[in-house]
Amino acid sequence: MKIAVVPGDGIGQEVVPATLPALTMLSEAFGLDITYDVFDWGADQWLATGTGLPPGATDRLSRDYGAVYLGALGDPRIPDMAHGRDILLGLRRGLDLYVNHRPVVLEHGVIDLYRENTQGLYSGVGGSISRSGAVTVAIDECLYTRETVEGFVRYCLGRLREAGRRKVTLVHKSNAVPNTGRLWQDVFRRELEAFPELVGSEEYVDSFCYNLVRDPTPYEGVLASNLFGDIISDIGAALMGGLGLASSASICPETRFALFEPVHGSAPDIAGKGTANPYAAAMSLVMMFDHFGHGAAADLLRACVRKTAGSEAATPDLGGAGSTRGFMDNVMTLLGHELSARAGTAVARGPLTAGER
Ligand code: NAD
Ligand code: IPM
Ligand code: MN
Repeated sequence: MKIAVVPGDGIGQEVVPATLPALTMLSEAFGLDITYDVFDWGADQWLATGTGLPPGATDRLSRDYGAVYLGALGDPRIPDMAHGRDILLGLRRGLDLYVNHRPVVLEHGVIDLYRENTQGLYSGVGGSISRSGAVTVAIDECLYTRETVEGFVRYCLGRLREAGRRKVTLVHKSNAVPNTGRLWQDVFRRELEAFPELVGSEEYVDSFCYNLVRDPTPYEGVLASNLFGDIISDIGAALMGGLGLASSASICPETRFALFEPVHGSAPDIAGKGTANPYAAAMSLVMMFDHFGHGAAADLLRACVRKTAGSEAATPDLGGAGSTRGFMDNVMTLLGHELSARAGTAVARGPLTAGER
């Protein structure tokens, strides 16, 4: 399988390259045959050529690649983020990656936050009217189709059931935004009927945020529309200990094509310093291994990244004095030890028996 690697802007250009050797090492060690090509889509290219996501890119990606691994987009030279919307939202929409899984990993357990990723207030429908250079009317439509909400809810409930989760919360704002709110509630209630293992509840997004910050422990699965999910994922990252820790997978349930990226942005305040935490990026690779059924590679990388976060190599956001490179060097050392210990065991005990194979 081939991965399209898009480091993007700011710290994306630091955390993504730093994590690629781990991807290669694990691919080789587990015989996964994963290779990658790097694409320089981002602010520099946009400013130099006016190209964001090149024409035909999503067709090419879905034909020749199985996944995208993306760092972040965002550059102070492009304050309206036009290139970021073109590339990032272009990939999400163009590849129909309408399920965004952003797990909130806490001490007591994991909250599986699922965010709809292509519609809602991100539908791109809208416009504005200006008078004498000042915007007088501005419209961003919140658009949802039943097909997308159904596909999203059904897929997420299935994933939650597979993961052995018992509770699922729909986050909405149907008191103030009744049309899309009602659609979401109706779909959620109907789809839940096919999942008797799951107990559903519904919460207004404002009180949900309040409750989540005060006590996240009751939540297991959370389903949210696009903008609500975006905001909740940053609250989740804060609960985890910072944006340097939160990873995500954007998935098309029909094709299985997926895009893996940290939840954080390009962090211009620390870009270029070499101190960005690569944890979230590396954990996005963990999500990629898991998504494609390479659980052993995922478990090993997860363990080594977690161990590094608690070591001297931890980056400043975690209270350490480490660097992006130093963090991943430590991960590589741990991976190397673990893989050679395993290889040693395999040699010492001889070839696998027919049954073991
Ligand atoms: P941000 O996530 O880039 O940064 C928020 C804060 O978290 C900053 O203080 C930053 O230093 C810190 N932080 C983020 N990632 C970190 C890491 N790996 N290690 C240590 N600290 C980290 O959000 P922002 O500052 O609001 O946005 C910056 C730019 O990124 C904007 O242009 C925004 O549009 C864009 N953005 C892009 C994405 C994406 O590509 N998916 C996501 C969010 C924001
Ligand atoms: C994210 C980001 C993006 C989003 C922006 C940069 C368009 O905040 O991936 O969380 O809103 O989805
Ligand atoms: Mn966000």
